[in-house]
Amino acid sequence: MPDADRNAVADKDYGIGVPVANPAFPLKGANNYDWGMKDRLARIFDARSTRTVMLAFDHGYIMGPTSGLERIDLSILPIGDLADCLMCTRGALRACIPPTMNKPVALRCSAGSTVLTELNNEVIGVEIEDAIRLNASAMAAMVAIGSQFEALTIKNLCLLVETGNRYGIPTLGVCAVGKELTRDARYLGLACRVIAENGAQFVKTYFCEPDFEKVTAACPVPIIIAGGKKLPEKEALAMARKAIDQGAAGVDMGRNIFQAEAPRAMIKAVRAVVHDGLTPEAAFEMYKDLQAKS
Ligand code: 5RP
Repeated sequence: MPDADRNAVADKDYGIGVPVANPAFPLKGANNYDWGMKDRLARIFDARSTRTVMLAFDHGYIMGPTSGLERIDLSILPIGDLADCLMCTRGALRACIPPTMNKPVALRCSAGSTVLTELNNEVIGVEIEDAIRLNASAMAAMVAIGSQFEALTIKNLCLLVETGNRYGIPTLGVCAVGKELTRDARYLGLACRVIAENGAQFVKTYFCEPDFEKVTAACPVPIIIAGGKKLPEKEALAMARKAIDQGAAGVDMGRNIFQAEAPRAMIKAVRAVVHDGLTPEAAFEMYKDLQAKS
């Protein structure tokens, strides 16, 4: 509508001479993504620290009822509110996680083998429509670089990247676990780089010593670390600290949180390391204090 009072035009503030803000998107390698992709990544990575504490409980898809996950309703629901993102299968999500928890989800989309057969012989088991129906903020696929399933799992990754890019859903490439796969910087650096070059918007791998900073430096997108097998709480916090200090953008931790003596205290302590820069010693003190009060 035209202004009733033509003089009011003079009062409008067009900001003449003020340059339009054009802030860079803060995640590594993500500046040229489209809006929806950035929006989903911004749900996963905390705006303040640009890091993430993801809570992984997708272990059942290869290991069945893993210790600490026998009852997801009893172990994950009481701590899920403290995660920046939940990583799980669609089965666990629909059956055990109320949508009112309202957390971004990194949906495990590769499937096909268990600990009883050949690990990593996987296909993509989740159609993009179901990932959209579940409002996934990311889709995840295992990638077994250097194994007999290398080509198959890279193809799986590419399929997720292709469909994810179509709909603005980022893909998380997960460095495979497997007895025959080494976990040194040479292997992990190669694997993470291959995963990123194939289009994953972020990569999950294991921390290694020495030279983890070379793994993160050579990967053009954010790297987050898995926790791996349960460690004493202080050691798990120290590992997280070292990974962050050497360039990791966060953790996607499972057993070291839900198998901890006090899981809620542990995820708070992990958050303090990842987001607030606490030393492992200070974070462990925090863990013990919270444990004592729980
Ligand atoms: C397995 C996974 C798991 O989510 C991952 O291993 C994280 O869990 P944890 O911290 O217990 O290792 O991606 O492929």
